Amino acid sequence: MTAYSKLRLGVNIDHVATIRNARGGEYPDPVRAAKLAAAAGADGITAHLREDRRHIRDDDIRRIREEVDAPLNFEMAATDEMVDIALRHLPHAACIVPEKRAERTTEGGLDAVRGHNHLQPVVRQLGDAGIRVSLFIEADSKQLEAAVALGAPVVELHAGAYADLEGAEQAVELARIVEAAAYAERLGLECHVGHGLTFDNVAPVAAIGTVRELNIGHFLIGEAVFSGLDSAVRRMRSLMDNARADSQGARSA
Ligand code: PXP
Repeated sequence: MTAYSKLRLGVNIDHVATIRNARGGEYPDPVRAAKLAAAAGADGITAHLREDRRHIRDDDIRRIREEVDAPLNFEMAATDEMVDIALRHLPHAACIVPEKRAERTTEGGLDAVRGHNHLQPVVRQLGDAGIRVSLFIEADSKQLEAAVALGAPVVELHAGAYADLEGAEQAVELARIVEAAAYAERLGLECHVGHGLTFDNVAPVAAIGTVRELNIGHFLIGEAVFSGLDSAVRRMRSLMDNARADSQGARSA
């Protein structure tokens, strides 16, 4: 039987910067949030430097690298500008996402099949620099195979549809993620999941034994308004750990 390791939690701090930028000043400081999240049990910090700098700014990335001990997962579009920034700051990981200026958030997965030629030099340059590259894709076998063809070691499955749906429709989406996570393991890809995860919907995803990391942002930052970021991260951490422990207990029973 496969020995499953602990499920990592990456906390996305983008929306602390969204609130800061609403007034254009210096607070709330996303770097302070990153330190607090790490102290509360986050295994890594995720930050998306968008082309339009609508939340995270260049200087936030510099400060996270200098001031935060936890590994940085740098979310980026596959552009020359972002590759240069990644190579300058050398984050632990880079997650390549599709980016449209008008979207409110990352609306769908990357098309790693059609984008092969464009993505290949990006994946290669980041990988050569020792950055662990992941591709944010839909839970789809063709996209997983395309990630292998690109030489990306990690994929992050887009959980947006799972998070948006309910009941039987949500179960269908969960089954798609479960199946894709199993296929990713057979292909030798490390599998992460992210987007739209909350206290209420995280457990079934955390229970998937081949998923190694969840990246969660918007809900945690929103929850922090009511309970504080420390408490929100700790609660998410414990929901994830409990779901993982229950599923492993069920498997070995
Ligand atoms: N993973 C990726 C690749 C993302 O683009 C996002 C959203 O920025 C997240 C995870 C986190 O999603 P959410 O903010 O909905 O938790």
